[in-house]
Amino acid sequence: MSRLIIVSNRVSVPDNKGAAAAGGLAVALQAALAERGGVWMGWSGKSSGDIEPEPLVLTQDGNITYALTDLTQTDVEEYYQGFANRVLWPICHYRLDLAEYGRKEMASYFRVNRFFAHRLAPLLEPEDTIWVHDYHLIPLAAELREMGFKNRIGFFLHIPWPPADVLFTMPVHEEIMRGLSSYDLLGFQTKYDLENFAGCLKREGMGVENSPGHFSAHGHNFRGGAYSIGIETAAFAAFARKAAAHSVVRKARQSIEGRDLIIGVDRLDYSKGITQRIDAFERFITNNPAHQRRVTYLQITPKSRSEVPEYEAMQHAVAEQAGRVNGAIGTVDWVPIRYINRSISRPVLAGLYRLAKVGLVTPLRDGMNLVAKEYVAAQDPDDPGVLVLSRFAGAARELKGALLVNPYDVDDTANALTRGINMPLEERRERWRGMMDHLLENDVSRWCDVFLADLRAE
Ligand code: UDP
Ligand code: G6P
Repeated sequence: MSRLIIVSNRVSVPDNKGAAAAGGLAVALQAALAERGGVWMGWSGKSSGDIEPEPLVLTQDGNITYALTDLTQTDVEEYYQGFANRVLWPICHYRLDLAEYGRKEMASYFRVNRFFAHRLAPLLEPEDTIWVHDYHLIPLAAELREMGFKNRIGFFLHIPWPPADVLFTMPVHEEIMRGLSSYDLLGFQTKYDLENFAGCLKREGMGVENSPGHFSAHGHNFRGGAYSIGIETAAFAAFARKAAAHSVVRKARQSIEGRDLIIGVDRLDYSKGITQRIDAFERFITNNPAHQRRVTYLQITPKSRSEVPEYEAMQHAVAEQAGRVNGAIGTVDWVPIRYINRSISRPVLAGLYRLAKVGLVTPLRDGMNLVAKEYVAAQDPDDPGVLVLSRFAGAARELKGALLVNPYDVDDTANALTRGINMPLEERRERWRGMMDHLLENDVSRWCDVFLADLRAE
């Protein structure tokens, strides 16, 4: 069996206490690699200032070799904060209004991808399977091909892929499409993303789909498919069962004093729909005075990408909004919204999900959303909670037992909260069972196996 080489911008290194909050990519890849072993190359998260970064630092942990590089401060600002987070992220989340183009940032994106290819090259052996992850590293395969590497190279996009009319507002969209066309296999979260990609290729004759999932573009044949990412379902459910004894979970249970708990867990990101969600919670209370003082909404929101201006602005906006709503609907003995900016470890999160009667997951746009899946996996089979889920999260394609909402429609989400809080036990059990069975069968290990089998197939 060939070695697996994973490359991603963000790497979840053990003992790095911040790793838990790094988001869905790091959580999923850690789970996938722990089982199979291999090499995981990426950015250390550190800047080397204005000097050239040292050679890769290799660390062995069990069967995983971590290979990390620093980036210069200019590259952190231009490639990561600039192009990845202020162009590709907003565009792929349909936020044309937030994209900030700059020639320096675009050039840095391609330069850092070349740098990654050169750092990776000495580690590679001819039989290795290379699997590149996410929007930071789209041009990597083209760089490796140019250096003569003939390995199988796959790419998985953890975030949505937009339709042509959205993508083509980005000045370098042709180079980005050419970069994607250099892989052997492209994986998207859902078939909608795959359809959008196929539509982008066809528009302006950049490439053709010869048969479903088989493409030709820029002189290269490649395949594309929908591979919905999963979680470690059984392990997460076990965390949740044990977590009741954890002191943080115990204290949380005592402090809610028999009230119903609604939980939201998101990186502080404008794609997550947090402000619309707080509005919906306020509307739910206003529409249902009987629930006043009977519910607590816990929103766990670790800060993310704080150096990027749009994220910094959001930190102020959400904190202010949570304070305003608490002021408007709270009472002397009831704080309706508990808004927390700290990252919580996943074993504790599992226990908090299990305490919550409603999991409120309402992104405006999300590739998958692992929190939705974790919330379901953490429930008590005898008394499961209700998942209220945005129809614009990839997870909505799979979690049929959720109450699907349009997160832009505050009344829709408020009504789903009412329905969720009041849902009879039998209906909760039935909805949960179907989702849990699906998650047990389609876990992260299966996602990894299916993608790699397709990538390795000629
Ligand atoms: N997460 C965590 N601690 C926190 C908040 C989030 O460990 O305080 C984890 C969460 O359990 C999930 C991931 O971060 O596994 C978030 O993934 P998701 O796909 O929901 O969103 P992303 O951050 O990738 O956009
Ligand atoms: C999402 C992206 C990942 C990214 C994560 C956290 O999950 O798909 O690629 O690692 O957010 O963002 P950050 O910018 O901190 O790596």
